[in-house]
This record gives sequence, structure tokens and C-alpha cells, in this order.
Amino acid sequence: MKNILVIGSTGQIGSELTMKLRDIYGNGNVVAGYIPGAEPHGVLAESGPSEVVDITNAQQIAHTVERYSIDTIYNLAALLSAVAENKPQLAWHIGIDGLMNVLEVARERHCAVFTPSSIGSFGPNAPKNGTPQDTIQQPRTMYGVTKVTGELLSNYYTLKYGVDTRSVRFPGLISYVTPPGGGTTDYAVDIYYSAVQGKKFICPIAPGTFMDMMYMPDALRAAIEIMEADESKLRHRNSFNIAAMSFDPEIIYGKIKHYIPEFEMEYQVDPLRQAIAESWPNKLDDTCARMEWGWHHHYDLDAMTRDMIAKLRERFKK
Ligand code: SER
Repeated sequence: MKNILVIGSTGQIGSELTMKLRDIYGNGNVVAGYIPGAEPHGVLAESGPSEVVDITNAQQIAHTVERYSIDTIYNLAALLSAVAENKPQLAWHIGIDGLMNVLEVARERHCAVFTPSSIGSFGPNAPKNGTPQDTIQQPRTMYGVTKVTGELLSNYYTLKYGVDTRSVRFPGLISYVTPPGGGTTDYAVDIYYSAVQGKKFICPIAPGTFMDMMYMPDALRAAIEIMEADESKLRHRNSFNIAAMSFDPEIIYGKIKHYIPEFEMEYQVDPLRQAIAESWPNKLDDTCARMEWGWHHHYDLDAMTRDMIAKLRERFKK
């Protein structure tokens, strides 16, 4: 029986993961942690308990863990890459001081912890194609610095204190539910909104820039399956490469145009996001995740595109 706290439950991943966890483990057993100003609404607010849990406030975390007898924490609080580059001190405070708070509470109260890492944890010195599970991680963005530090800190808490920490390196995540804010991979979400709403898409990433991407249902399953995995089979913990598809703006544009032939796209490259994207891998090798806990993706670019267009058309009634 799991009692789960989701920190960052109203964000890009949290808003969907919290609902999926409630489906699996019971509505009353999954607490939606949020910060004032980002309160849960609608079904997220109505379907189960929610509490103010600011990751930078260790007491709030400890209080909620005790009150609900929490045994598993999903730590999803973070600033995405482009925002983090504009607010590096805050990104560190949330990403690392916050993680330290979570790990300390987990150590004292015997909780398992999931903290996502990212393709952003690599940097320009890592092999770009087939980026291995274990390789050089020298990111040059604050987002990446917090992610690789988070991986190391989480592994440390497992080795030193036996805290059950686990993680996956998420690619760019694509969803029709909660829009992301300030990520480098977000263009691959925005492009679908433009296409379905009949607008020309202004692409901030240059043609030829490849990045790993994943449809949200696969990402949610990964976050749950890694926490359910048989611990004795895990050689790695923080963090597993996972992959589903890799494309550049031309490829996703071509795929959408196949279903919406009148769709148009124009490039206006954003130098900040372009520099970040160029420092990230083109395509990760996720063999270890597949071998150690049976990771597999369901959605490729075509399946995702068909579903995104159908769901957004329903939303915008086009
Ligand atoms: N989607 C994230 C970003 O672009 C990558 O992990 O910041």
C-alpha cells in the first residue's frame, strides 16, 4: 500500500501524474502538494487531498509526510531550462536546496523518492548520438547543473543512508493537457497547438537540431514503473536514460503537415534556446532501462501526432 506525496502537483508533469497515481493507488492515498499561486483546480482539486508544500520549506514537507503517513515522494518541483537560465539562483534553490529538504525528510521518515532528471543533465562533451547511460555529464546550463547534482545527491543518500531514490532522465515531454513553461523542447508542444488552431507556427529552434522527445502517457508510465521496479535488478538508480523518439523541427513539421496539409511554419530562432538545444544530446541510448526494469515506449512520432491532433481538435472543436 502506497501513500504518496506529489510535490509540484500542478506543474507540467504533476498535474497528469497525480491523477494517474490516484487511479492506481486510490484517490485518498495521493496528496497533491502545491505552492500558493499554483493551486490545484477542477478534478485535481476535487479527487483527493491537497496541501501547501513548498519544496524550499522542510517543515512543510515533514508535516505533510507525517500527517498522511507518506512512504513515497514524487519530487517534481523545478524550473525548466530556459527559465532557469534567466533565474539561476532560484533554479538552484528549488532544484538542490529543495531536493536536500526532500531527502532529509525521506531519510528520517523512510520514504522512497522519485526526482526526474533530464536530457539536460548532459552537455556538449557527451557523445551526441546514442548517448550512453554512463558517460561524461558536464552541462553548461543551470538546469543541467541542478539535474546532474540532483542525480549525485540522490545516489549519495542511497549509498550513505539507504534511502530508496530512483529517477529517469526525461526527454522533452509532449502533452495536450498542461502546457509546459520555459523549456527548450516546448516548441514540440506549441507546434501542435498552432497546427490545430490554423495558425502559422514560428519555430524558435533551427532545422537540423535533434532532441529526444516522449509522449506524456509514456513518461507517466516510466515514472511509476521505475518506482515499482524490483530493486534487486537495478544496477543504476539516478538516473536512467529513457527514450522514445528523436526529431528536428523539419521532421515534426513534415509529420503534422501529413495530417494538416495547409499547416505552415517559419523559423525565428531564439539564441538562448538554440544554444541550450545544441549542448544537449541528439538521441539517448536507453538500453540499461530496457534491461534493468523493462522500460519500453508505446508512442512513436506518428502515433503521438495522430493522438495530439485528435485530442486538441476535440478541445478546440476544429
Ligand atoms: N523539457 C525540458 C526543458 O526543455 C527538458 O528536460 O527544459
